[in-house]
This record gives sequence, C-alpha cells and structure tokens, in this order.
Amino acid sequence: MDNLDQLRSDLLTSVEEATDLKALDEVRVSALGKKGAISGLMKGLGGMDPEQRKATGQALNLVKNEIAEAIERRKETLADAELDARLAEERIDVSLPVREEPQGSIHPLSQTIDEVVAIFGEMGFTVAEGPDIEVDWYNFGALNIPPEHPARQEHDTFYLPNETEDGQRTVLRTHTSPVQIRTMLKQKPPIRVICPGRTYRCDYDATHSPMFNQVEGLVIDEKTHMGHLKGCLIDFCRAYFGTDDLPVRFRPSYFPFTEPSAEVDIGCTREGGEFKIGHGDDWLEILGSGMVNPAVLENCGIDSTKYQGFAFGVGLERLAMLKYGIPDLRTFYESDLRWLKHYGFAALDVPSMTGGLSR
Ligand code: PHE
Repeated sequence: MDNLDQLRSDLLTSVEEATDLKALDEVRVSALGKKGAISGLMKGLGGMDPEQRKATGQALNLVKNEIAEAIERRKETLADAELDARLAEERIDVSLPVREEPQGSIHPLSQTIDEVVAIFGEMGFTVAEGPDIEVDWYNFGALNIPPEHPARQEHDTFYLPNETEDGQRTVLRTHTSPVQIRTMLKQKPPIRVICPGRTYRCDYDATHSPMFNQVEGLVIDEKTHMGHLKGCLIDFCRAYFGTDDLPVRFRPSYFPFTEPSAEVDIGCTREGGEFKIGHGDDWLEILGSGMVNPAVLENCGIDSTKYQGFAFGVGLERLAMLKYGIPDLRTFYESDLRWLKHYGFAALDVPSMTGGLSR
C-alpha cells in the first residue's frame, strides 16, 4: 500500500510535468498501458487471499481512475496551450497591401458558350468541333442539300477559290451542321453531342454579321423520337433563360436535313423594339430543329431502319443578346473595352445548370 501511494504521487507528478501531448501519452502508456505500472500491480491480485485482493483491488482501481482523470485534464490544458501558441504565431498581417482589382472580363459570347455547354453537359452531351473551312459535301451534300437546292443561295455562301486535293469545292461553313456529319462518320451511335463554333454568311446589319456563332446539337439512338427533341429543347430554353415556366412552342418548318422539322419559339412581350422573355402572349423564334432525315443518316453510313435521332441549331449571339439585353450584334466583334466592361463577366463566375446563369 505504501508503494501504491508512492506510485500514485509519482504518476501524478509525471502527468503535471508532461509538457506536450506526446510526452503525456508516454506517461499514459507507462501507467495504464498493458505493460504499465498499474496494470502490473493488477496482475499481482491473482496470488492474494480474497480479503486482501478485495481491498487492494479497490485501492488500485481508485488510483487508476484518478490517474486517467488527471491525464484527461492535462490533455485539455495542453491542447488549449497548443492552440493558443498557433493562434499567436499565425497572426494575419493586416498591413499587407490589398490585392489589385482583377483586370479584364469574360466576353458575353464566351460566357454564353460556357452556359450552353454547362446545360447540355449536365444532360449528358459532349462537345464536338470541326473546321471553319469545310468541303462542299459536308456543308451541303451530305446534309441532303443537293447542288440545285435553293438553300445554297439562301445561305449566301462564301465559296473559297481553292479546292481540296481530291477536287472538292471548299466553303466557309454556313452552319455548324457539317459537324453532325463529321461526328456520325467518326462515331457509332448512341451519339449525343453539341457543336459550338463560328459560321459564315454574306450578311451585314444590326442583327446579321458575316461571321457569327452557332451551336448545333445531335442525338442519335435506336428509340429517339420527337418527344425527346421537345423535352430536351424545352428544358434547355427554361434553364438558359432561368425561367421554369417559360412558354415554349414548336412550329412546323422545313430543313433539308431534318424531317419533320420544327422552329422553336419562346414566349415574350414586345414593347417598341424591346423583348421581355417569358411574359405576355407574343412569340420569339430562337431555334431550328427536327428529326434527322434518314437520307442524312445513310450518307454517314448509319442504318436508318435501326437508328433515328434529332438535331437542332441556334445562334449563340442571339441567345446572348436576348438574355443580356445587348441590342446590336455588330458590337460583339468591335473590341470596344467600354462595351466589354459593361457586358463582360467576372473571370471566376462558373456557369452551371443551377448557378451563374442569370444576373
Ligand atoms: N443548320 C440550321 C441553320 O443553320 C439549323 C438547324 C440545325 C436546323 C439542325 C435543324 C436542325 O439554319
């Protein structure tokens, strides 16, 4: 018993003298660990007569608990001290100069492309790209637009003087639809891509520019139908304009590469020259769409009895103008810094289906 008293006060002293958590843990192991002093004494109980065993056992347990509590208390004190030391050391230097205001901003067109990619990305689409200079066949022929077709004049195409090595006429692509063709020639269905990019037509006024951007979409699978087309485009319009109940209307139309074809309108009001999207009883056309013409699938070596799909195309500047209230298309390419400052976006605004889409 004398030994136990001595051991107790020795251990309590060691606990108080432990200057950090590591040292304290060493004390814990030497006292309460499997091979520790107290555990050693516990083992001796087996050889004692019952009376003695009971008394000694109780005394040992008291000491054991007392030591364990002392260790816990010391642990808290040491942890607090460590935190205080760290806080003292990691003080913030408020005399540091402020960071400079970020320079530059994201062009509304880049922002719009990011938004469109984010929305379709979350629907499972990937991005496909193609060249601005196309061969006649990919821009027209494979899309079921024959040489004598009026669409070729409609497009007011920039034809290039040079031909490809195998004698094909080259054009500045008049739409992003040739990327559909390139994708189908390269990739087996199921296909789900969007193709943003520059397109060219001989046109120039406040709403037309000889160079502008489109995004095309293409979905090909075994059971794709008009319902998918409608659901996909309604969801897109509502997500892009950030309006859950945006009215969307499908109007019969004609494109050589889709059959049937539909123009997509969204609800709006017109006041003077201004549009308000999502309210009122007027309609604004924003997208071309349709079920891919079987002739186009066959031109790309896809079995049109097994696969079908839908495609759509939309002008990117137009999407940006409508959402951000930009009145003149030509200003997109004038590189006027005042314009960019006014309509530009902060560099770290990351658009997604649910955030960063409206401001
Ligand atoms: N390519 C068409 C255009 O530029 C748009 C479109 C694409 C229409 C796909 C239907 C399907 O006008």
